[in-house]
Amino acid sequence: MIEIRGVSHRYISGDETKIFEALSNVSLKIESGTFVSFLGPSGCGKTTLLRIANGLITPSDGEVWIDGERVDGPAPDRAMVFQEFNLLPWRTARGNVEFPLEVQGMARAERDQVVTRALAQVGLDRFGEFYPHQLSGGMKQRIGLARALSVGPSYLFMDEPFGALDPQIREMMQLELMKLWDSDRKTVVFVTHSVDEAVFLSDRVIMFGTSPGRVIADIAIDLPRPRWTDDEAIKTSPKFIQFRNDIWRQLKRQLVAMPDA
Ligand SMILES: Nc1ncnc2c1ncn2[C@@H]1O[C@H](COP(=O)(O)OP(=O)(O)OP(=O)(O)O)[C@@H](O)[C@H]1O
Ligand SMILES: [Mg+2]
Repeated sequence: MIEIRGVSHRYISGDETKIFEALSNVSLKIESGTFVSFLGPSGCGKTTLLRIANGLITPSDGEVWIDGERVDGPAPDRAMVFQEFNLLPWRTARGNVEFPLEVQGMARAERDQVVTRALAQVGLDRFGEFYPHQLSGGMKQRIGLARALSVGPSYLFMDEPFGALDPQIREMMQLELMKLWDSDRKTVVFVTHSVDEAVFLSDRVIMFGTSPGRVIADIAIDLPRPRWTDDEAIKTSPKFIQFRNDIWRQLKRQLVAMPDA
């Protein structure tokens, strides 16, 4: 379980003359094994909160607790998938997935096994020897996911992982992610700008508002699972459409309220 307790975060400019309040007093509990999405206008602090929850940034105020321990830095059971693929161009797909395991000091034979499994999980077993520049955007994103999965995390933090993909590949990736998630139900915190993506994937959609970044709604998405076996039926169901419309309405209010909109 992830517990975000009264988290606020201020960014201070290099010359210390400007203070920007990115997050204000956010409290959330995320149950283990659930899929939760963060949705909200640009600049409302979604990435900041994800990085705080993962231990990459220390919040100005408040605390994050995961499984009864206070987060004070990154840990191997928490993996992050970034929007930018962040692959090392001089390493093959295999080499990229292997990288965090090398850093952890895992022995070569075990590493080989783990990497082979992670590449197979994302459907790229035949592409291990390809370099990033030889892979499509969707494949690079899958390598990023395989790299995150290879460390066997209990918690997966994903920051707009499909944002750069074309719409068809994006839908395929959503289905693959749902299939993968159904097989082991890790705790996933997923940032997206897509209302449909958030509703389709999530057990809960947390909506954020800006200036300062804060939680404005917490919506339980009780659509049936699995959702990948007949995604069309899910996406055309009255319940899905109702969730999507309700969330859109709230989001539009936030966008209108943005200072520079
Ligand atoms: N390193 C930084 N230094 C100063 N300000 C920052 C820094 N990182 C983020 N900010 C500011 O904090 C606010 C929240 O940023 P954040 O990246 O968390 O937003 P976001 O919700 O992820 O936005 P987007 O949807 O565009 O990715 C923004 O106004 C941004 O300008
Ligand atoms: Mg962001």
